[in-house]
Parts: sequence; C-alpha cells; structure tokens
Amino acid sequence: MKQLHITETVLRDAQQSLIATRMPYDDFEAVLDEMDKAGYHSIECWGGATFDSCLRYLGEDPWERLRKIKSHMKNTKLQMLLRGQNLLGYHHYSDDTVRRFVRKSVENGMDIIRIFDALNDLRNIETAVDECLKAGGHAQGCICYTLSPIHNLDMFVELGRQIESMGCNSLCIKDMAGIMSPQECFDLVTALRENIKLPIYVHTHATTGLGYMTYLKAAEAGAAGIDCATSCLSGGTSQPATESLVYALTQMGFDCGVNVKELKKVNDFFLPVTEKFSASGVFDPYVLSTKTDALVYQVPGGMLSNLVAQLKAQNAIDKLDAVLEETPRVRADLGYPPLVTPLSQMVGVQATVNVLLGERYKNIGKEIKSYIKGEYGKAPGPVNAELAQKVLGGEQPITGRFADTLEPEFEKAKAYLGDRAQSEEDVLSYIAFPQQTEQYFDKRDSEKPLVVQFSIKEVG
Ligand code: CO
Repeated sequence: MKQLHITETVLRDAQQSLIATRMPYDDFEAVLDEMDKAGYHSIECWGGATFDSCLRYLGEDPWERLRKIKSHMKNTKLQMLLRGQNLLGYHHYSDDTVRRFVRKSVENGMDIIRIFDALNDLRNIETAVDECLKAGGHAQGCICYTLSPIHNLDMFVELGRQIESMGCNSLCIKDMAGIMSPQECFDLVTALRENIKLPIYVHTHATTGLGYMTYLKAAEAGAAGIDCATSCLSGGTSQPATESLVYALTQMGFDCGVNVKELKKVNDFFLPVTEKFSASGVFDPYVLSTKTDALVYQVPGGMLSNLVAQLKAQNAIDKLDAVLEETPRVRADLGYPPLVTPLSQMVGVQATVNVLLGERYKNIGKEIKSYIKGEYGKAPGPVNAELAQKVLGGEQPITGRFADTLEPEFEKAKAYLGDRAQSEEDVLSYIAFPQQTEQYFDKRDSEKPLVVQFSIKEVG
C-alpha cells in the first residue's frame, strides 16, 4: 500500500484560520494523549500566529505551551511554521536571534520546522534551516505557491532544487490562499518529483472549495503527505477535513497510518470547544462558506475580507470593485510577490490608498518603501521602474541579504531585561514581541488579567 502522511493542524492553522488563534492551552490539554494515539505523521501546534496570540491575548508563555504539549507526545512529531528570517513576527531579525530561536524551539520539543519566506527569497530561510539541522531538527523548506505571469513550473522546480541543495529534509508546497487547482498541484508535485528526491508535502486551505480535490491529486502524484484539520474545525479558510480525506484516500489504496476510531474521539473532544467559540462570536460561520472570488481576483480569502473591512471603516465600500482591480496592478508593480503575510496586507493597503486618493502612489506606505529598497528580500520579478525611481530617488536598493546589515540583538535585549527575564526563552519572546512580552511579564509578576485587544488578520 502507498503511504500518505497526515499532519493534523487543529492546534495551529485550523484555529488560526477560524477562531483567530484564540484557543487557550487549557481547552485542549485533555485531548493530547488521545491525539498522540491517532497515528498522525505530525501535529502542527506552534508557530504562525500562536506565539503572538499566547502573549497578546491568552496570557500564556508560548515556550511553556510547547513543553507541555511535548510532554504528552510519546509517538507523534510536533511541527511548527516559521517565517524564515522574520521568525514569527513581521520584520527581519538578526542572525543571532534567528539561530537562538530555532535552537530553543528544537530544545523545547519541536521536531519539524516548516520554514518559508514570503517572497520565496531562499536567502531568508538559510540561517533558520542551517540552525534547525545543526540542532537535530527536521527542516522543511517551503515554496509559497502563487499564480502570476512570472511564476511557472520551471521557477518552482528551480526553487525545489535550491531547497534540496540547502540540505532540507523535505519540501512543502504552501498554498496559503487555497488557489492551487487539482491539476496545477498534480503537475507541480510530478515535476518536483522528477527533479528532486525530497519528500513533498502539500499544504492548502478549503477557502475556494478546491482543497479536497487538490489533495486527491497531490496523493495521486506521489506527495508524501497532506495537512488536514479535524472535521469540526475544518473547511472554509481552514484545511479540508481529516476524516473525510482519510476515508476517500483509504478507498483509493493509500495507507494514511491513522486510527479512525481515535480520529472520531479527537473530533468529539473539539466539538464542544468549537461550540464555545461560536457562542462567544469568535467563530463566525461566514469563514466557512466557499469563496470562489479568490479564483477570479487571485487574492487570498483573508485578504479579501480585510479589504472589505478597511473600506467599510472608510465608508467607501462602493469602491470595492475598483480596489479589487487595483490590487493585481499594485502586485504587478511590485514584481508579483506572493500574497502571504506580510505582503498581502501591504499590497491591500496600497491598493486601497491608491483608489481612495484618486491618484496612484500619491502616498506610498512605509513597508512598501522598505520592500522596494530590498529590505524584505529580492522581489520575484522586476519592480515598476517609475515606482522604484519615486521611492529610491538616486539610491540603489539593497541586493545582499538584509539580515547581513542587522546588528546582533540578543545580548542587548538580555541586558535591558535584567532580572525580568527568567530564561533565554524569555529574552527571545521579548525580541520577537517586545510590547506583548512586557505585558505578559507584568501579568506573570502580578497575575492580573490581560486586557483583550484586536489584531490584524493573518494570511498564512
Ligand atoms: Co496555511
């Protein structure tokens, strides 16, 4: 029988996509032993927005959460998502921070680190990959999947070759927007398998309704594994359902390695948890409906709902069509970056500003300027020359790796925190999210409840 690995995402991407990463550790602790018996290849449980959310909203130490989860996992590998040189934040950190962060992740129990760069600039994942391997972790390099006139099979295969030669243990095709069609997936997995030896994992979302079909074609093409979410937290902006895919794939002759009875126990456990978030309004059924607009506009579902929210706030929802037409133009001007955090937010805001001011690039966002200066990495394609001139004047963009220009951060942060930091992990939390971490330290010191705030929507 052909093997197909299942990664269960309920503790990370599924709850990030459906309930804004608001699930506290106490809500799922009681199911961890059961999850460990289910036979998943891995459980994605950390990274992405979970780290920020623990500190910002839940009053939890993310490192402690990781250690606690690990203590229940005798058989199952833990997996996390890391934004390369951005770690779990929104800007580039210095190499000393990246190395310490990755090493501490492995030391605290992480097995598989899935590492991506929003621009597919692999220089931005090199340090994290290198340290993961040195620390004894499994490094999974990512191709961020996107469609554009410059993204094609050859380009993706070349990225795959580079990921392989970097020493990664496996490769992930990361379709954060759920726009990869079944046929595109089949062709891409096939092309990668013809050219590289790494096992290929496929990550998609059910947003556009293609996800289930895409996974079947991934399996047919010889993918090593797929990411699914337990059924009560599946569908819509989350992953396709674990149980349904296991059912279908088993009949197609795949051994998914899971115990179906355990899968049911896991889902039975999460059902009332889900209902609690529905009752409080955190879980909005709107995110579950199939949204095919993303296929027309080529923008991720999360980004679309952001644009709608922004325009409503400006009392300009009548401009939505204009903004949706402007979005791909801005993306083209920037050399077709994949629309994943943080680029999805940057492109969306600039398109909105261009439309609302009635003049393109009258006002250029600070992040867009940094992008054009090369501070996020190399743009996939050429940046519009006129726009580049406007931002750079006579200056040259950075062509090297931006992190090479950054001073070491760790010792400075450690000195600043003094006694407040009880561990190296504390210092790393502070470097990653200074404000939220100080707020968490205050809470830890005094045990006062946290004030709840709102955050930006993640697309990843
Ligand atoms: Co995702």
